[in-house]
Amino acid sequence: MKALKTLLSVSFIIYLSQLRLFVRNCEGFASKLGADQGANSRLAMVQPTLNTEVYAAIHPDNFKGHFKGKLVVVTGAGRGIGRHIALGFAKAGATLALLDFDIERQEETRKLCEAEGAKVYLYGCDVTKYYQCVKTVGEIKKLATIDVLVNNAGGGPIRGFISQSFDEFWGGVEQNFKGVSSRYL
Ligand SMILES: NC(=O)c1ccc[n+]([C@@H]2O[C@H](COP(=O)([O-])OP(=O)(O)OC[C@H]3O[C@@H](n4cnc5c(N)ncnc54)[C@H](O)[C@@H]3O)[C@@H](O)[C@H]2O)c1
Repeated sequence: MKALKTLLSVSFIIYLSQLRLFVRNCEGFASKLGADQGANSRLAMVQPTLNTEVYAAIHPDNFKGHFKGKLVVVTGAGRGIGRHIALGFAKAGATLALLDFDIERQEETRKLCEAEGAKVYLYGCDVTKYYQCVKTVGEIKKLATIDVLVNNAGGGPIRGFISQSFDEFWGGVEQNFKGVSSRYL
């Protein structure tokens, strides 16, 4: 019983000293904040860093030549993320089959990818139209076996849900759901 009492007392003392240490740390942190006169440096402590660059670990420069001899299909490659995915694979040495329902938009993507030395094939195709996909994939398969398919084509609603007509809403559903189906491969 005496041993138990001693143990409890020692534990309580350790607990108190830890608590005091914690409070002292909090006070130190608070006074550091208070002493910090510049509003900017105070903000810098809580502001997240905005990174608009590709993270170093996945930067296309790390994959130069890794996709040499591979056929990569990217849907919605006319602009935005799809264009940059295509460009990344071009840098990695891939041959590209690019799809978009706006074929003219893809010309710029083609130029950028060819500047990286890639062979590029363009296809006008609406990924929500099953038979267009079957036909396009049939044409692409004549080039070679498809090694990578990036189902990027899609989009978000331009207006809020209640401001859309039913057709606009349903168009978005089809764009995002049918576009990621790979059943025609
Ligand atoms: N931009 C973002 O912040 C964001 C965030 C989350 C997800 N995404 C998704 O990433 C993908 C690309 O986004 P983005 O911002 O580059 O879009 P974007 O609108 O800039 O480009 C989409 C491209 O896909 C094409 N496309 C759209 N529907 C198509 C269809 N049915 N058939 C063929 N081509 C079609 C368009 O012509 C366009 O060239 C989309 O699926 C989007 O939902 C984007």
